[in-house]
Amino acid sequence: MRYLIINGPNLNLLGRREPGIYGNSSFDEVLADVRSRHSDVTIDYYQSNHEGDIIDTLHANGFEGCDGIVINAGAYTHTSVAIADAIRAIRVPVVEVHISNVHTREEFRRHSFLSEACTGIIIGFGTNVYNLGIQALKDLKR
Ligand code: DQA
Repeated sequence: MRYLIINGPNLNLLGRREPGIYGNSSFDEVLADVRSRHSDVTIDYYQSNHEGDIIDTLHANGFEGCDGIVINAGAYTHTSVAIADAIRAIRVPVVEVHISNVHTREEFRRHSFLSEACTGIIIGFGTNVYNLGIQALKDLKR
């Protein structure tokens, strides 16, 4: 089994970016923890600050060789019809995750273009959402 985690804009700064909201761990640390919890599968990781690169990565992994995708599209969640359409276009299950509970924050964060296109969503459990997202994808196979 191979799963892919995609992080969108500004998530490369995890650990340094607004730690009161997003925590003190870098994504390298989060990823090491997720991989150690799911050592029975391969977990690849991709991060980009660019919308088109995220779409290309969904296309490249969405048909074969990948069993599911966990995506935190960052602020593109609230703006990108194009990423939502890419998720609709591919075949593998996609789980939308957010570190913070976007429903307790600014009004503009309450709407996600992606949620309708995704298999499921996991929101607000801190960086544990990546672990929960991979677990949810594995459980789809059971
Ligand atoms: C986020 C929430 C988004 O509103 C924000 O733009 C992010 C991170 C989260 O993980 O909580 O970049 O997706």
